[in-house]
Amino acid sequence: MHKGDLGAAASIISKAQHLIALTGAGISKESNVPTFRGEDGLWRKYNVMDLATPSAFARNPQLVWEWYSWRQDLIAKCSPNPAHHTLVKWERKGVLKSLISQNVDGLHRRAGSSNVHEVHGNLWAVKCTSCTHLGRLSSPAQGIPECPSCGAKLRPDVVWFGESLDNAVMQQVYAELERADVIIVVGTSALVHPAASFPLVVKQRDGRLVEVNIEETPLTPSVDVHLKGKAGELLPKLDALLKSDTVS
Ligand code: APR
Repeated sequence: MHKGDLGAAASIISKAQHLIALTGAGISKESNVPTFRGEDGLWRKYNVMDLATPSAFARNPQLVWEWYSWRQDLIAKCSPNPAHHTLVKWERKGVLKSLISQNVDGLHRRAGSSNVHEVHGNLWAVKCTSCTHLGRLSSPAQGIPECPSCGAKLRPDVVWFGESLDNAVMQQVYAELERADVIIVVGTSALVHPAASFPLVVKQRDGRLVEVNIEETPLTPSVDVHLKGKAGELLPKLDALLKSDTVS
């Protein structure tokens, strides 16, 4: 494994036939979106069992909606950063074939990414707790939103701890993992499954792994190149090298 070798990463990416990306909260850190773990992570300040589980919502839907409304308000003021924009550029150049994100902040789509699989849902999406209604909020929730179809409580359409990921999304994700020969993993602690195992699916098929993170993770020993640093700084540098790499 090369540590911090931008050239090696650029070489792997420029030779990729089917590059995909997996992102986590770290890619949005430079957009001022708090991560979950690390020194100022959300799970350091809040108890996930009170806020991000089905039983938490059943127990106190008002508290859960207050927390999600606070996150919606915060994220509405955030903007994509150069890391998001680099992935958009690679998608438009045909370099990046698809983007799998654990993030619910919607910043990849706001930056212009279109082939995005939001495996943990989206902060603005809502679903009815009783009927099949699905919807999207256009502004931070006020109180407990009610279903326009049946009047029951709406909940955030995100994947809470203890819940499984959407089958249709997972089918698309695994189809991508089966086609990928390179995966770039940006800003995830690689602790939460099944997303944490996605890069290993690519590796098991002799694919190459590039990791971008400010620190090492449980995935680091398995990657071909670990680029230590901020995504918003390293991805544009990687992009610049790609250009020179393709010219040679
Ligand atoms: N650039 C790159 N990486 C960064 C940066 C940065 N500027 N800042 C932080 N990181 C890294 C951290 O080192 C850490 O490895 O981003 C990672 C963030 O990890 P988490 O906070 O655990 O976020 P994530 O991996 O996305 O969590 C996965 O857990 O709580 C659930 O559903 C939630 O989707 C989330 C899942």
